[in-house]
Amino acid sequence: MSAAREPIAVIGTGYVGLVTAAGFAELGSEVWCVDIDAAKVERLKAGEVPIYEPGLEELLARNRERMHFSTTLDGALEAARLLFVAVGTPPTYSGDADLSAVHAVVDAIPASDRHALVMKSTVPAGTGAALARVMGERGRGALQYVSCPEFLKEGSAVKDFMHPDRVVVGDSGGWAGDAVVDLYAPLQAPLVRTDVASAEMVKLASNAFLATKISFINEIANVCEETGADVVEVARGMGLDDRIGPKFLQAGIGFGGSCFPKDVDALKQLAGNSGYHFQLLTAVIEVNDLQKRRVINKLHRHLGSLAGRRVALLGLAFKPNTDDMREASSLVLSARLQADGAQIAAFDPVAEEQARALVSGIEFAASPLDAVRDADAVVLVTEWQQFIDLDWAEVAAAMRGNLLVDGRNALDSDTIRAAGLLYEGIGRR
Ligand SMILES: NC(=O)c1ccc[n+]([C@@H]2O[C@H](COP(=O)([O-])OP(=O)(O)OC[C@H]3O[C@@H](n4cnc5c(N)ncnc54)[C@H](O)[C@@H]3O)[C@@H](O)[C@H]2O)c1
Repeated sequence: MSAAREPIAVIGTGYVGLVTAAGFAELGSEVWCVDIDAAKVERLKAGEVPIYEPGLEELLARNRERMHFSTTLDGALEAARLLFVAVGTPPTYSGDADLSAVHAVVDAIPASDRHALVMKSTVPAGTGAALARVMGERGRGALQYVSCPEFLKEGSAVKDFMHPDRVVVGDSGGWAGDAVVDLYAPLQAPLVRTDVASAEMVKLASNAFLATKISFINEIANVCEETGADVVEVARGMGLDDRIGPKFLQAGIGFGGSCFPKDVDALKQLAGNSGYHFQLLTAVIEVNDLQKRRVINKLHRHLGSLAGRRVALLGLAFKPNTDDMREASSLVLSARLQADGAQIAAFDPVAEEQARALVSGIEFAASPLDAVRDADAVVLVTEWQQFIDLDWAEVAAAMRGNLLVDGRNALDSDTIRAAGLLYEGIGRR
């Protein structure tokens, strides 16, 4: 790649920031990474990768000489004009996005007509306009602002950076929007060049739509259970319609993660703050909350009281190929099971460390077989390939009972039954 690529700064080196930084370094930019987490910065400087994301370690290693890590902005401000902001925007108690980290970044940037903020963090529509107003009031109106929302998925983030479905750039004219478009040009992705508020809304609306699709198929699954239909067959039949498409039509125990729950809530609150009642999203959220608890009903139906019963959870992360535990369905499940008196053993290939910080009172097993040993029931919570490939006859032999709840409809029911287990999917015959 050419050495003439624009140098950039990335503020916040989490899942989005680190992948974005490494991705742009791979495309040839010098990248100054800034994070307030000093321990994380030290690890990055030492060549360690603080998160689990397939392909990221290799990408960082390959581009190490172009990447600089610091806890302060000084070097970044000197070297780069484009300051990508990728700090967290977690939910507040009210459901609105907490923009305090974004404000901290804005406050730390001095008056400048040379720099632009490029917002990668997911923020409510209207944030760019609000920040521009604040910066204007503080005599820093010359700082440019670009909304460039991120659509990468944990677990395939590196691939998603390199092959995005689209790049969205929202600005109000000026050099910075063009510079961001140039940075992404080698990826040859469809470009949506628009205004700031629309770019912000593309992100929220996309996540809300995907979450709606999941809650929709989950409700269909629940109706299938009442009517004798099989949701896997139904979803296959629906998904072949290219107006619908097969993705996000897998019924299961609901969505989690650091984005969908908070972004759906944030859009609902954003609408509510403007006086609009977003009824559909209220239902999407409620369906998702209830869906996580339906597994408990299935366990009760087969086992009666769960007091003293041993339940094995296979998978803890909110989805496969990540160690992210934010809003993972396993958190709700383990809390509900413990409240009902069950003993829980759990195994996850990579998320144990994160889970230990969030869950207490459960046994962390060293392997899937250790987790299922003497279990009355096994629940597949996260569809890691390792679980799909398990020797289920071996699992059946290690268990005390014979109930398998496939919380992701990821297993072949015939294989499970052939192993001597009782298969319970979500919305399956
Ligand atoms: N994780 C995803 O899959 C994903 C996908 C698309 C968009 N997003 C959005 O991107 C943003 C970041 O998400 P994430 O998952 O990477 O978060 P994260 O929590 O993994 O990382 C955020 C990082 O920002 C750092 N930080 C906080 N305040 C800072 C400050 N003032 N200065 C410098 N660094 C600071 C934190 O220490 C942390 O390392 C969020 O708005 C999120 O909604 C996330």
